[in-house]
Amino acid sequence: MFDNFARNIEYLRVSVTNKCNLRCKYCMPEEGIADIGHENILSIEEIGRLVRIGARLGIRKVRLTGGEPLVRKNIATLIADIAAIPKISDISITTNGMLFADMAEDLKKAGLKRVNFSLDSLDPDRFKYITSRGILKNVIRSISKAMELDMGPVKINMVVMKGANDHEILDFVELAKKMPLNVRFIEFMPVGDLPFYKTDRVVTVHDIRKIIEQKYELTKNVTIQGNGPAKSYQIRGGLGTIGFISAMSDHFCGECNRIRMTADGKLRSCLFSNNELNMKLALKNNASDDKIAEIFTKAIKEKPNRHHMNEGWGADNKRKMYQIGG
Ligand code: 5AD
Ligand code: SF4
Repeated sequence: MFDNFARNIEYLRVSVTNKCNLRCKYCMPEEGIADIGHENILSIEEIGRLVRIGARLGIRKVRLTGGEPLVRKNIATLIADIAAIPKISDISITTNGMLFADMAEDLKKAGLKRVNFSLDSLDPDRFKYITSRGILKNVIRSISKAMELDMGPVKINMVVMKGANDHEILDFVELAKKMPLNVRFIEFMPVGDLPFYKTDRVVTVHDIRKIIEQKYELTKNVTIQGNGPAKSYQIRGGLGTIGFISAMSDHFCGECNRIRMTADGKLRSCLFSNNELNMKLALKNNASDDKIAEIFTKAIKEKPNRHHMNEGWGADNKRKMYQIGG
């Protein structure tokens, strides 16, 4: 499926729930979120069907996100369903790692290939502060389990925030040096209107790199499987790699190959654009496969050539990250 800017859209990210067992300061309000009701969320069967139709159109890779995807009931059934679609060659999840360790074997058996972990601190107290309830040792155990089961390349996403965790940048590099992990430093983005986002909390990828290069030598550019927007590097003498994701200071829209489905069934062609098509409504109206395919095609035709976050798109984003899934 080619969009109007000759980008081949082959990657679908599906948010399977907007619920989460953590409350990261930049993502979810402490009191949690209103329940949007079972009937307004895509069912496991519906998601399977949508991916099947997407695959017919050219989708080859699927990532399940949230909220936290592992709090969704029957997630392993969904993974097995998607893994059974012959044209889908890659299925992965992005998780906070709180529940992964105990579920890992079942998920792998179901067909899950790769895991990304969101992890913003390696200090138990700070981790708890940022997530407001997370237990670091659960996440570490989950990361070890993913490596042990060879569900890699295992990636760690660290959202860098000045004054909150930027003093840990080098600790994360050290982690990538000692372990065969791909640690990715993500520039803080203004998604939704959570008060924790402030421009003075942003550390640009350029600055993160400068901090790292004072101590480490980054060698050649490497290609990591599934690494869309991240630029990755080897660290001299290290087992793992590090990457940088800067949606803001150096947008990568020209290489964007993805579309997103929200948990309530809205198809979004760009993370940052409010343009959405209502797939859930079409399903409620018993849409045929052809009708659904038409909605996919329309979303792709409407995909903007780039975001305009630096010109004020962020403030009007009607959805927060837990509603889109990153
Ligand atoms: N800025 C940057 N990254 C974010 N994420 C969530 N919210 C933001 C934000 N405002 C990250 C999560 C996760 C990924 C899906 O997106 O930490 O790793
Ligand atoms: Fe949950 Fe991820 Fe949001 Fe943290 S960033 S509250 S783990 S969905």
